Amino acid sequence: MLSLIKDCLWEPLPIVLIMLGYALYAFLTSTFDYWLVRGVPYRKPTPLLGNFGDLLLFRKSQPEGISEMYNWFGNERFFGVFRVRSPILIVRDPELIKCVCVKDFHVFCNRGIPVNSTKDPLSGHLFNLEGKHWKSLRSKLTPAFSSGKLKNMFYLLVECSDDLTRLVERRLEVLENSSSSSSSSSSFPDASIVEVRELAANFTIDVIGSCAFGIHINALSDEDSEFRKAAGRLSKPSYKATLWRMLRTSMPKLYKLLGVQVIDPSVTKFFMDVVSQMVKERENKALKRHDFMDLLIELKNRGTLELDNGNGLRAHNDEEVPVAEEIVLDENTIAAQAFVFFVAGYETSSNTIAFCLYELAVNPEIQEKARRDIIDALDKRDGKLTYDAVQDMKYLDMVILETLRKYPPAPLLSRRCEYPYKLPGSDVELSKGMRVVIPIYAIHHDPKHYPEPDKFRPERFGDEEKRARHPYTFLPFGEGPRNCIGTRFALLQTKVGVITFLRKYQVEVCEKTDIPIKFSRRSLVTASETGVNSGIMYLSATTLSVKEIFANFEHPVVMAFGNPLLDVILTDDENNLLSKYNLKIDGQTELEEKVMEQLFADLPEGSKRKTSAGGCAQNTMRVLQKLCGKKNGPKICVYYGGLGKDSRGDMLEELVRSANVDARYAIHPTLPTGVCVSIINDGYRSLAATLGAASIYTLEDLKTTVLPLDTVRVIYIEGFFVTHSLDVAKEVVRRAQGKNIVIALNLNGTYIFEDHHAALCEMVGLAKIVFGNVEEMKALANSLNLKFDNPTDIPFLLNNLKGVSVNASNSSSVWGQGQSAQISPIKPKSPVIDTTGAGDSLVAGFLAGLLTKKDPKTCLEWGCKVASEVVTNIGATLSNDLPADFLQ
Ligand code: HEM
Repeated sequence: MLSLIKDCLWEPLPIVLIMLGYALYAFLTSTFDYWLVRGVPYRKPTPLLGNFGDLLLFRKSQPEGISEMYNWFGNERFFGVFRVRSPILIVRDPELIKCVCVKDFHVFCNRGIPVNSTKDPLSGHLFNLEGKHWKSLRSKLTPAFSSGKLKNMFYLLVECSDDLTRLVERRLEVLENSSSSSSSSSSFPDASIVEVRELAANFTIDVIGSCAFGIHINALSDEDSEFRKAAGRLSKPSYKATLWRMLRTSMPKLYKLLGVQVIDPSVTKFFMDVVSQMVKERENKALKRHDFMDLLIELKNRGTLELDNGNGLRAHNDEEVPVAEEIVLDENTIAAQAFVFFVAGYETSSNTIAFCLYELAVNPEIQEKARRDIIDALDKRDGKLTYDAVQDMKYLDMVILETLRKYPPAPLLSRRCEYPYKLPGSDVELSKGMRVVIPIYAIHHDPKHYPEPDKFRPERFGDEEKRARHPYTFLPFGEGPRNCIGTRFALLQTKVGVITFLRKYQVEVCEKTDIPIKFSRRSLVTASETGVNSGIMYLSATTLSVKEIFANFEHPVVMAFGNPLLDVILTDDENNLLSKYNLKIDGQTELEEKVMEQLFADLPEGSKRKTSAGGCAQNTMRVLQKLCGKKNGPKICVYYGGLGKDSRGDMLEELVRSANVDARYAIHPTLPTGVCVSIINDGYRSLAATLGAASIYTLEDLKTTVLPLDTVRVIYIEGFFVTHSLDVAKEVVRRAQGKNIVIALNLNGTYIFEDHHAALCEMVGLAKIVFGNVEEMKALANSLNLKFDNPTDIPFLLNNLKGVSVNASNSSSVWGQGQSAQISPIKPKSPVIDTTGAGDSLVAGFLAGLLTKKDPKTCLEWGCKVASEVVTNIGATLSNDLPADFLQ
């Protein structure tokens, strides 16, 4: 009996299944004649997938999939497709796009994304809202993006730019250190691979976090940042989230009925908590940061924002939006808006920065032109990144627009038809509820609008070419009253990101770079497939001039300790001072102060007498400042030494000030200022010096001054200084420990080894670089009991330090620590006039190379080049008409 009942039930099952299958098939294909009956060109759809198979199954990226469809109908103004079973109209004609976005905006004012504020409180944001709620909110939020408000916020972007620079520097240093420990070929690797997309992403998280939420997130350096995690979850939606999203638009009633949460609940909770805490904090402290959070709170409390004038961009803002029913801005609504600023602004802007840098790496000449544009605008503002400087960068603007053409972050725009609508210039009537898509990516790559569309050519955005094009063929931010409200802010943060990279680094392609870029097939925005952690960019030392590189440093960069002397140089001995004061030809004599005063009184006046700020380290700082600093620009060197309180001291201070060196002298009122008289005559040079206050610098003096250890990269100490202030030198080195500062020492003279070899050897042990001529290196080797056959081997014998020695005639140099770099003599371009300060100038050139991360050989070449220039002038000085590329 039982089996009979079973048979009765099972027998019709196949028929039932066939009928159900047929019903499903009929349901899925019932709409497939929609375009046929309306005479709209279309392609035969596949049941279950429609024309979107490749996109729904992630076989193609959004830009590729939509472009393929666009190209099916090359000569049509519009055509029809099916997404699963829903008909969608795709518009190709720019005039028709204008109708949809602007002229008939009242018909296409919504995107058709249902909102369920109870289940998804963050979904009630501007992008999703419809009708009067959208209108009311849009008109309230529009003033928050005015140029005046963005200008007030600009300092927050600069803070994030500084953080980005610091992080890149740190990454390069880590890579540099690891490559120097793993390879012995160079201690100055000047190029490293850095993954730019990840850096750009964290930069934009920081910017939006700071501007929209009012928090210093530090996603750049904090890998565990909650914002970074939330951004990751949002940009990599799970299959489930993708499915819910599809359900939301295709079956809105079922979506509401099921009450599903499209936004990850943990993300919702995180953003709601952050905003709630921020609102409380701001309201309690009455704190003003001029960011979006301030403006949202102002809207919550006052209902409106103060308007300011001037925007300059084509924007369809509240003047086109009819006055609408007020929307109440409670804490949830504020959180939803801050959330949409994050979602809409994060990936779009960071991918644009990465795509832009990719194109600049592939097109180095465009990169150079963009960099020039950036540097020129910054130079006009003493290197300061300001809002106005960004607006001045016209070529950069064209570069960014061309990036947005080639890689529009939103590959398409979507609108829902709210009333039956007859397509202008045709008999086709769209029914209410029909979805209309504008294929931005495909239009941007249509050779009819953009010849050779795959070519990156910023000139397309020059005035002339722009005028010749239909304005509705460039749609990265959409069009009409529903366009991107964040356009100005997006352009600003994208530009600041690109500027931050370009002003300091050169981007180059490397073996990891995908050329051409492959698009992600999962992402809803245009993004590269390459994983977040793989390297796509190569950042190398920049091709900027030395002065430009130094302008980008935080100052001061070098700190020096020495014996400051007032140098008096005579080019004639008409008063027979040599014989009168018993001075040795080509020798050095120390005179008592009384004798020096007498000599001073005997000095001739006029053109044969020249004064300058002298002393070994002070000479080096003057020359370095002139080589690397901009006229009236920041002081790159700080100098410390002892000075008397007398007219010579005043003169010296004046000379140092005019050389733009930051001298922080310790004044010793009871002692005279040090002086060195140099007599140059008939090819010889005789020196007479009195050290006075120059030979005193105590730990007490050090206590009263500030050491800028957070910015300096090199501390340079002269050997003469060590002879009287070893304790100070050691204390400075101690304080610099752990700060990645290079300690450099100059041996200065063989004779100081006689009384001070222990002090010098101790300092040699602390220094990373030791400068000296061959005789000084020999004296050092003897003091250290080093055996050597050839003096040029000495730097190799010094354990763990890099020695730089120059032979007496300044013709060749040697680099130690297992690597040797000898250079041929560099012949001065003009006759040698005065060798005063030749060694000091060599050090200046060498340090310029070291600080700009040149290899050892180039550092030596630069040093010798500078010295060979200095010896053609009177005194340790460079001529004023050095070519801009002197050290290139
Ligand atoms: C390069 C960066 C960006 C691009 C390419 C971009 C692009 C777009 C596009 C194409 C739309 C749709 C426009 C339309 O339907 O006509 C849009 C809407 C929107 N965007 Fe952006 N966006 C960017 C950055 C931002 C930023 C930084 C914010 C906020 C701070 C933002 C906030 C919004 C909002 C709120 C909407 C909805 C506007 C409305 O419906 O009234 N976007 N964006």
